[in-house]
Amino acid sequence: ATGQLFDTHARPLRDLRISVTDRCNFRCGYCMPKEVFDKHYRYLPHGDLLRFEEITRLARLFMAHGVHKIRLTGGEPLLRKDLERLVEQLAGLRTTEGRVPDLTLTTNGSLLARKARALKSAGLQRVTVSLDSLDDALFRRMNDVDFPVAEVLAGIEAAQAAGLAHIKVNMVVKRGTNDHEILAMARHFRGTGITLRFIEYMDVGATNGWRMDQVLPSAELIARLQAELPLVPLSPSAVGETAKRWGYAGADGNHDPSLGEVGVISSVTQAFCGDCNRARLSMEGRLYLCLFATQGWDLRSLLREGASDAQISAAIAQIWQDRGDRYSELRASLPADTDSGGRRIEMSYIGG
Ligand code: GTP
Ligand code: 5AD
Ligand code: SF4
Ligand code: SF4
Repeated sequence: ATGQLFDTHARPLRDLRISVTDRCNFRCGYCMPKEVFDKHYRYLPHGDLLRFEEITRLARLFMAHGVHKIRLTGGEPLLRKDLERLVEQLAGLRTTEGRVPDLTLTTNGSLLARKARALKSAGLQRVTVSLDSLDDALFRRMNDVDFPVAEVLAGIEAAQAAGLAHIKVNMVVKRGTNDHEILAMARHFRGTGITLRFIEYMDVGATNGWRMDQVLPSAELIARLQAELPLVPLSPSAVGETAKRWGYAGADGNHDPSLGEVGVISSVTQAFCGDCNRARLSMEGRLYLCLFATQGWDLRSLLREGASDAQISAAIAQIWQDRGDRYSELRASLPADTDSGGRRIEMSYIGG
């Protein structure tokens, strides 16, 4: 049984986000705070991770069910040895219409200068780099491992030089920490062909000590930008997109494509569950139906117990067809201090 799947809210399965490692060389406070992810933290043993062949097999079965876009995440995906071999395998897959998947990667950029060319020649199409500040001292504090911003910027340049298309930069905005960097970031990337996206700090996981007063609502952010750099709203480029797009306006007040665009990802103040078409596969082969899920479906056991393609495919279909998750929407209608019950998965485990 293959073909496009729909869940209980009639949302199609379109995107597959695959986390390839639970490790990262950064310790961003909102994701892997040092106090928790210290030298005693137990990462998954290598044998628990899906092998590349297992990931590719699952990806092929997901694509037969309508997946068009595959995003590799982590932790930090470039820490996974020989990742370009996985990219190569995934690039060989085809959608139900016979096209190559939209194949991309979310990275902290620290190893990109070294790996961009190999990734591009393996078939990676685009890349998204996380970058929270251009100010070196602040950036070093936010990654909490004293990593210099210049090396991430060099990674972004290497990605451009390698011919990776539609490069995006993700900035998680924390009020009182880096919100004063918004304008500098916008000015830096305006007119470069790189799309900067501002992400509302989310209450993911259980370790980051999230507080509502640390969230800068996207509406306020856009108002601050607008005051200096005129923006016009753009229509979505795809159904179920995470970011609301804004184009930089030229002298005539219309969007000037040569100046590019910015995006805001507002999962706290304007939930976008309504057409969420994303499935998440963890490094150990658990399928999660929501970023805020408390449990995943174990596909690795099926793989390792010798299930056939048809059996795994039927399991995927059943899981997606039963899906009702829409955490951010429900969250918005609850009092701010409501306990979610159950321990949510960490961002570093599921890759955002
Ligand atoms: P594009 O295809 O390039 O637009 O990427 P994307 O926005 O789907 O992925 P990316 O990894 O760049 O995610 C950007 C931010 O959006 C991250 O902080 C993610 O955690 C967040 N995000 C992505 N998908 C979801 C989602 O389904 N729900 C919520 N609440 N946040 C999401
Ligand atoms: N809130 C919002 N975004 C987050 N990310 C990691 N943790 C959080 C959080 N608590 C971002 C990363 C990366 C993307 C995949 O998720 O910075 O850009
Ligand atoms: Fe690593 Fe990204 Fe998490 Fe920062 S946000 S600790 S770079 S996985
Ligand atoms: Fe999708 Fe869950 Fe995010 Fe809503 S909260 S957009 S259902 S992943």
